[in-house]
Order: sequence, then C-alpha cells, then structure tokens
Amino acid sequence: MQTITVALGERSYPIHIENGLLDRAGALLAEQVGPCAAAIVTDDNVAPLYLRRVEESLQAAGFRTASVVLPHGEPTKCLDSLSRLYTFLCEAHITRRDVIVALGGGVIGDLTGLAAATYLRGVRFVQIPTTLLAQVDSSVGGKVAVDLPQGKNLVGAFWQPTLVLCDPETLRTLTGAYWRDGLGEVVKYGCISDAPLFALLERTAPGGREALMGVMDEILRHCIEAKAEVVRQDERDTGLRMTLNFGHTIAHAVETCQHYTGLRHGEAVAVGMSVITRMTEQRGETAPGTAGRLDGLLDALGLPRQLPGIPETALRQAMGLDKKSLGDCLRVIVLDEIGRCRIQETNTAFFEGMSGV
Ligand code: NAD
Ligand code: GLY
Repeated sequence: MQTITVALGERSYPIHIENGLLDRAGALLAEQVGPCAAAIVTDDNVAPLYLRRVEESLQAAGFRTASVVLPHGEPTKCLDSLSRLYTFLCEAHITRRDVIVALGGGVIGDLTGLAAATYLRGVRFVQIPTTLLAQVDSSVGGKVAVDLPQGKNLVGAFWQPTLVLCDPETLRTLTGAYWRDGLGEVVKYGCISDAPLFALLERTAPGGREALMGVMDEILRHCIEAKAEVVRQDERDTGLRMTLNFGHTIAHAVETCQHYTGLRHGEAVAVGMSVITRMTEQRGETAPGTAGRLDGLLDALGLPRQLPGIPETALRQAMGLDKKSLGDCLRVIVLDEIGRCRIQETNTAFFEGMSGV
C-alpha cells in the first residue's frame, strides 16, 4: 500500500492507494476513528458494483452502517439532494462522533463533503473515490460544493476528509468517456509540475488502457502527491492552487458555449491545454517543442486537442464571465516547459487568435 499525507497541521490526513483496498476500508477507517456509525452515500451506478463490499468491510471492523443511494450524474449535485442527505443522516441517528463516507465519483464526493461540513456544524468525512477524476483530483484538497441553477459549485466549503481510500481496481468498470475525462486531469499534473509523470504517460499511453492500468498505482501516486503539495501550500485557493486550472480557462469557455452538452470536461481541458500551449510557444513564452510533446501525448491517449467550431468572440466573452476572472483581469496558467508552469495576469485579449493556432 502506498500512503501520501496531505500535510495540513492538525487537519492532516492520509491517502492510501492499493488494489483491492475496498475490502480493507473498515480496518483502515478503524485506525483513524474509534467505534462509531458510518453513513455511506453513493449513487445508483456505483452501489451495485461496490456498496456491499464497503458495507461488509465496515461492519466486520465494528462500524454500524446506514447507506443511501442517489441517482448518478451532475444534476444530483444540488440543494435538493443536500436536503435529502440531511434527512437521511437524521433518520440514521448520525451524531458528531460518527463518520460520513462518500463512495463514488466527484459528484458524490462534493455533495457528501458539503453535507459533512454542515450537518451538526461538521462531521468527519471519508472519501472512497471510484472515478479517475475523483481519485486524482476531487477527493484531495477539501473543496466540497453543490451547483445552483445559476452555475456550478456556487455553494460550498473547504472541509478536509479524515481519510481517502483509492482502489485503482475500481477504475476497470468506468466507461470510456469517464476514463478519458480523468486522463485529461492526469496529463495536467504532468504538464504543470511533474515531468517524470509526463514521461511515464508518454511511455505507457501507446499500450492503451490496459497498459495504463498496469501502472495506475504509480500514476495515482504522482498525481496525488502533486495535488497534496499544492493544497499544503495554498489550501484556500489564493495563489498556487490556481495552477491546477491549467487549460481550464479555455475549457470552461468551451463548456459554457456548448451548454455542457458537447465536449466532456476532461476533453475540454485537453483542448484548453493544447491550444494555450501552442499559442504561448508560438509567442516564444514556452520552451520550443513543448506543444508537440503535449499534442503527441493527447493523441496517444485519444484526447481531442482542436477547438470545436465556436466563434472566438463567443469564447472570449465566456471567459470574461467566468467566475474565476477578476473584473477585467484573467489569470491564466502558462507552461515554461513540460513540468513547470507560471501564473500570468492578463485579460481576454491574451486569447486573440486562439482559433487559428
Ligand atoms: P461522477 O461522480 O458523475 O461520476 C461519473 C460517472 O461514473 C457517474 O455516472 C458514476 O455513477 C459513474 N461511476 C463512478 N464510479 C464508477 C466506477 N468505478 N465504475 C463505473 N461507473 C462509475 O463524475 P466525476 O467525473 O467523478 O466528477 C465530476 C464532478 O467532480 C463535478 O461535479 C466536478 O465539479 C467535481 N470536481 C470537484 C473537484 C474538487 O476539488 N472538489 C475537482 C474536480 C472536479
Ligand atoms: N480542482 C481544483 C482544486 O482542487 O483546486
């Protein structure tokens, strides 16, 4: 088993990675928290695959369990579901001494985390992420949230988990679309801070999903270490954590213009990373050859890298409306080279000519 610690003083927590870890969830949780009740939240895709194993493992370790299964998909990340979870937690007699477990992808993790942050003014919370995106990104770092009709993640908190358990074997049942979604974020870590991870992906990607699964524990360790270090330095997202948004300015604009019905998030991030890197390399702001390596890897992973046919003016307007832009000012993440990036303060004019690269 590999363990990475997210070092946040008294709120530090371990992230364990191992094939088959679901069956040891109870024993590992018992090391962190005393005997108590565990409320498990999952969705209707994940429940038939993994809920029973987690329940049995927790019960064998002495936990009283109660479970709720929500519909899968982004619409579940809403205030109505949060309200439904509060009812479930009350009916299951969950107290401040107990623990809430999120078993699923980023939707379940974000929603359950917000319930844990707010129910009884805060209850301990464990993440058992089952998508690639959730294992490398959303389960690490304590951002929890629900969406409003006005936009994504508009109500949330920072609420760090007590424990995160990553079982790479669970990724075998992911559909191709969600597999690729997560890969977009994996490539991002290689680009912004981890050249050895990028090289590992370059070596492995030609072998396809099976080859990547063969080194998945290593890939997860690289990504989680990279994110844990960023979170350690900037938990509240006021500086360095913004580097995790590499490729996301363009990605969010594309997703907005396509009303979230076109490219998937990870695919849009792939396009965003490629387009901005081609632009900055052409301007002499990124080391020569960087965009070629990035595009080669995206091709090998089956990720897109060309902007869909959306007018550039519409994309730039969407960037200006992005909730992460500061008035006229936009902070974009630019690669110096593979494995090194910087934050650049600019505005939407930076993206002039993006459709032509
Ligand atoms: P998701 O939770 O909707 O999961 C994707 C799909 O895969 C769902 O249909 C789910 O039922 C299914 N699934 C999950 N695990 C499975 C498995 N092992 N086998 C088969 N099917 C499985 O989506 P996601 O991509 O995991 O997460 C997206 C969410 O994460 C978004 O809401 C996004 O805002 C959020 N997010 C949060 C952070 C953060 O820091 N908190 C970071 C990135 C993304
Ligand atoms: N996914 C971005 C963050 O955790 O800050």
